[in-house]
Amino acid sequence: MNSKVTPWEVDIESEEDYRKLIEEFGVKEIDDNLLNELKEITGDLHVLLRRRFFYAHRGFDELLKEYKNGKSFFIYTGRAPSKSKMHIGHLIPFILVKWLQDKFKVNVYIQIPDEEKYWAKKTDDYEATRQYAYEDARTIASVGLDPDRTFIFINSEYIKHLYKPAIYVAREISIHEAKKVFGFDDSATIGLPFYISLQIVPTFFEESYPLIPCGIDQDPYFRLQRDIAEKFNRKKAITILSKFVWGLQGPYTKMSASDPKSAIFIDDDYETVRYKILKYAFSGGGATLEEHKKYGGKPEIDVSFFWLSVLFEEDDRKLKEIEEGYRKGEITTGELKDYTAKKVWEFLRNIQENRRKIDLDKFMYDGKLASEMWNWEFKI
Ligand code: TRP
Repeated sequence: MNSKVTPWEVDIESEEDYRKLIEEFGVKEIDDNLLNELKEITGDLHVLLRRRFFYAHRGFDELLKEYKNGKSFFIYTGRAPSKSKMHIGHLIPFILVKWLQDKFKVNVYIQIPDEEKYWAKKTDDYEATRQYAYEDARTIASVGLDPDRTFIFINSEYIKHLYKPAIYVAREISIHEAKKVFGFDDSATIGLPFYISLQIVPTFFEESYPLIPCGIDQDPYFRLQRDIAEKFNRKKAITILSKFVWGLQGPYTKMSASDPKSAIFIDDDYETVRYKILKYAFSGGGATLEEHKKYGGKPEIDVSFFWLSVLFEEDDRKLKEIEEGYRKGEITTGELKDYTAKKVWEFLRNIQENRRKIDLDKFMYDGKLASEMWNWEFKI
């Protein structure tokens, strides 16, 4: 079956689909060579890179070369608020962003497009979505971003500064191009094609390279950006692209914010996390304890193991032990789930504590860019 992936629709059913996307999108795999190059600079590698959850890129190899030659870059990513709160999958790009910011001490720009999901008809209540925009900004800041180097902006609030560049950008992209990349059909709102320009504008915030960690579904925006960047005397977008997390229901299901049985939310407490994992997380274990001990389990289809391997078990040796123990049936499903719940909670507790302490104004004050960080002349 053919995979279908656009920013508004994601349909992935196997690792094979991910490989096909690499060809379809014309991106490259993140391979050992690239990771070694990065490690030479950073000293170590974040678990999301080591385990290849970020698995593809466009131009990251070039960027590292340029960086070694003294060129700089900035980081840009975003999150479109929707009709419900964020789940752990939504945080993934921001976790990598924090790591990159720590390592490279670069500026980070985070766009919160409160219009996108409304225009895509993924939410029906714009005012509610706006409220989530602020909640999401707070959640994102709580991964530990440096307030002195991070600017989070909500499109409808910051539009005064986005609109002029968007005027120029929108003129450079035809409906034909937009359709080719995004495949809009006739029922799409006229908001969406214009929105493309708003997501491209922040790639021009600085003269250096924009580095964009995001889900691979976002790549189409930046493909269009690369076609026009040079006209604006700006650098082409560099992307590092991730896979999608599995929902609790099983391999390649979606963690959907509108289905609490599929997702663990950022504000879930320990009891809830544990309950959801014990009750709903799809298991690769044997049908009965006896069978499990006899024939072993299948870590490759087990949602708890998936989550440990993507993010929550950073220790490679420990992960290997768990994998082998589970496969042999020495570790039971109950034990694996219990351990996963603890690891997830360790992470969430920290986020929740940070979240309470965040001074959002430090991240969102809109004079910030205008003063020292943002000094650009938009010439065409
Ligand atoms: N379109 C993204 C979403 O649906 C939000 C977003 C805005 C974004 N700007 C971005 C994502 C830049 C990656 C990079 O959530």
